[in-house]
Formats: sequence, C-alpha cells, structure tokens
Amino acid sequence: MLIAAIALGVAGCGGKQSTLDTHSTQSHDIRTLWWWMLVVAGIVFLGAIAMLTIGWIRRSRPGLPFFGQSERVETRLVVLFGMVIPVVVLVALFFVANVYVIGKTEPPKPGSTAMSVEVTGHQWWWEAHYPGTTAVTANEIHIPAATRVEVIGNTDDVIHSFWVPELNRKIDLIPGRNNRLLLDADSPGVYRGQCAEFCGLQHAHMSFEVIAQPPAQFRAWLQNMAADARPPTTPAEQAGQQDFMADQCASCHTIRGTAAQGQIGPDLTHLASRSTIAALTLPNDAEYLPRWIRDPQHFKPGNRMPGLNLSDQDVAALVSYLRSLR
Ligand code: CUA
Repeated sequence: MLIAAIALGVAGCGGKQSTLDTHSTQSHDIRTLWWWMLVVAGIVFLGAIAMLTIGWIRRSRPGLPFFGQSERVETRLVVLFGMVIPVVVLVALFFVANVYVIGKTEPPKPGSTAMSVEVTGHQWWWEAHYPGTTAVTANEIHIPAATRVEVIGNTDDVIHSFWVPELNRKIDLIPGRNNRLLLDADSPGVYRGQCAEFCGLQHAHMSFEVIAQPPAQFRAWLQNMAADARPPTTPAEQAGQQDFMADQCASCHTIRGTAAQGQIGPDLTHLASRSTIAALTLPNDAEYLPRWIRDPQHFKPGNRMPGLNLSDQDVAALVSYLRSLR
C-alpha cells in the first residue's frame, strides 16, 4: 500500500513532461531550486516528526532521561526550532527563489532574441504565428534549437497558462495583455507543454508540443509553413476540397490559398504535417481524422467544432484532401 502510494506520487517525476528532465539553463535553475526546497522541506518535516515523537514519549513515560528536563533547555529548543531555523530557512528560500531563480528565468527584453513566436490560447487549443512570415500553425510550436526565442503570449477568450516544464517557467495568458517568455532549448527535441490554468471543460485536453529543430531544418519547416496550401491533385482530393468549401468547414477554418478563411478553428493549411489533432488529444492519422470529423464532440465534449452529419463519402473525400495538406 505504502509502496503503491509512493510509486503513484513519483510517477509524475519522469516521462514526457517533467520539471526534472531539463533542457535549458532556465529549467535547470528551476530544477535546482526544486531539489533544494525538497531537501530543506524534508529535513524540516523529519525534525518536526522527531520533536513530536520525543514529546509523545515524554508525556507517556514521565521520568525518562530525555534532554529538556530543565526549563531553560526547553525554552531554547522552542526558540531555535520555532523561530530561528524557520526564519533562516524562509529568508534563504525567498532570496534563492525570488531573487536568483526569478531573475534567471526573466522574459527576454523585446528585440533581444533571434526571433519571436506569437502564441494565442483558445478554448482549447493553441495558435502560433511567426512574425515576419505568413506561417500559422496550431498546437505544434517549432523553434530552432540552441537559439533564444521570445514567446509573446495572449488569449482569445479566457485566461490560459503556457507551460513547457522542460524549458522554462509558465506564463499566464491574460485577455488584453502580452506576456513574454524565453524559450532556449539546449538541444533538438520534442518538449511537451500543457495549459496550466483551469480554462473550462477541456482544460486537460489543451496540450501542445514545442519542437526544437536544428536551425537549417527549422528554416525549411518555416518556409513550408509560410507557403499556401498544395492544390488537390487526385479526384478524391478535389472532391474533398469542394466539400470543404461547400460544407461549413470553411466558415471556421482557414486553408491559405483557397476561399476558406474562417478564423474560429485552427489554420489547416498544412494540417497533414502535424502529428496530432485537437491539441494532442488524438493522433492525426487515417483512423482518427475521419472519426474526429464525424463526431468531434465525442472526443472533446464542449469544443467549438460541431458534428455536421456528413455522409461517409463526404468524410472520405475530406480526409483525402486534408491528408494531402503537407
Ligand atoms: Cu487553457 Cu487550461
């Protein structure tokens, strides 16, 4: 039972989205602070338990030769453990956390980074724009590795919180404000992020990935992302594009280079280049994409995409078109 409880407790300490698996100097400093706080809190906890145990034994067995028989010693113990140690510990942690680590994880000065990404939180997905280009994407935010990138975060609706534990602290996305954060991944990799502020029914399904790539690979990605959508080539893709414009898809989604200019849902210009749909809720593959189009409310109740009662034929055509949008 105890082992199961401990296993459950530390289950969140590893894996894909761990504060302890750090990939930037900022998250490394946060991890160091976390370990210090854990060790100090552990010592304080054990000390308190020891005091309680001594007190309990002394009460139940009067006459045992524990220290503290004289009143002077008892008063000193109270002053030491009740005042001196807590003040020293709290002041030290205050300086380390609020002066040192917060300073180290400060947002970059505007214009001091190689590039910036504008991230907008939506119920319940993420939109990313790359200033200076026409690139727009959703839920998969690419950055060049070993490069200082400024995230400019805002929201389209309620308060969200942008958090990639392996890279830096979190920032709240607040209506009417731009909050900034530095991302500086030390190596290429996929770093999972999560909305960290309760924002409604599907808050738990508001995840994203920061994909840090070697700079040349990133530039190729960005160039593709900035381009208009590929025109459909096969008859099935052409039928799918017609359905997309004729059904209500186009009133919510943009596919750049076509008549679809909706601004409510994610930009789908290069949908097939993303590995997930619905903010990492489902894999973006031939099995789940049609199921999602048929009944999005089944997978993510309350999201803004309605099921449109499409025929199997329409869904199949839409899927072949969307899966061609690399
Ligand atoms: Cu967005 Cu929680």
